Amino acid sequence: MLIRRKPSWAIAERDATPESVFLNRRALLAGGAGLVAAGAIATRANAFTLFGPDKIYGPPEDDPSAKLYPFKRNEAFTLQREVTPSDLNYTYNNYYEFGSSKKIAEAAQALKIRPWTVKLDGMVEKEQEIDVDSLLAAMSLEERLYRHRCVEAWSMQLPWSGFPLAALVKFAKPLSGAKYVRMETFMDPETAPGQTSSSFGYPWPYVEALTIEEATNDLAFIATGAYGKPLPKQMGSPLRLAAPWKYGFKSIKSIVRFSFVEERPVSFWEEINAREYGFWANVNPNVPHPRWSQASERVLGTDELVPTQKFNGYGEQVASLYPDGDERTYFM
Ligand code: MTE
Repeated sequence: MLIRRKPSWAIAERDATPESVFLNRRALLAGGAGLVAAGAIATRANAFTLFGPDKIYGPPEDDPSAKLYPFKRNEAFTLQREVTPSDLNYTYNNYYEFGSSKKIAEAAQALKIRPWTVKLDGMVEKEQEIDVDSLLAAMSLEERLYRHRCVEAWSMQLPWSGFPLAALVKFAKPLSGAKYVRMETFMDPETAPGQTSSSFGYPWPYVEALTIEEATNDLAFIATGAYGKPLPKQMGSPLRLAAPWKYGFKSIKSIVRFSFVEERPVSFWEEINAREYGFWANVNPNVPHPRWSQASERVLGTDELVPTQKFNGYGEQVASLYPDGDERTYFM
């Protein structure tokens, strides 16, 4: 089986450079085959210059949960920077089920978001299947401002709507032996061409996992919406993880299954290349990716290159989860 060891968002160190340098190079390459699409377009203005305006695909018009939004903001979660404009978040995505570029929003419109059933299984008192609207009705809903830091060294800030993953764990009633929560994205190659066997040879479906302690930390959030509205399909509708102290690839989209397990699951990118995309993936500026630095990040929508913070600035909430203090253990 052909396994590409390197996801296309795995930019080379030379590409983790200030945006102007990057864009000049991209401008030269634009039109060439193999262009990693708008891989590092950091501002809408620049994106327009190079590629023309994007069509914006917002929240699906037929999303029956739309009437629930906006949720009341939980003021405990604040940002030091401006919220990233929604149009940028709606047009700059990683969602390999729909393609390997950042411009998958149009392809993602094929995703059918109803009916949508979520399975809660494994080491639980009783396995359950629940449709997403009943799940929303059972949860206490809120909005939170979070940072979002991709392993590619770019970041955004946005308001997620949803509920704490801890509430879903409680709802699932795991048995005491369960040590990890394994999450799985839908599998439907007809809808998601990236999942066909000829595409990439990746180990679909996309799988991610957290320890029970991580999953029940208050910061772990299941997002059902963003910017006060239901999630657009390209952002992982109808429900996805937001684990802001970890690199973005941990935040699995369009989840259909939560399994409570004893053994540590192998996550999607870990299976493809464990040396570069480890299980823990906690943000740490002191531990470079094997091929580029993680010391700073480009704030999308601005021209800023800012220092990256350990745990993406959420150390107060999560550092106690990683007590051995080893700089590397939990960062790969
Ligand atoms: N989930 C699935 N199912 N498929 C993916 O390709 N990409 C991940 C993560 N979740 C991905 C996924 C990566 S690499 C990132 S950075 C974030 O989703 C991107 O989320 P965004 O498009 O909302 O910014």
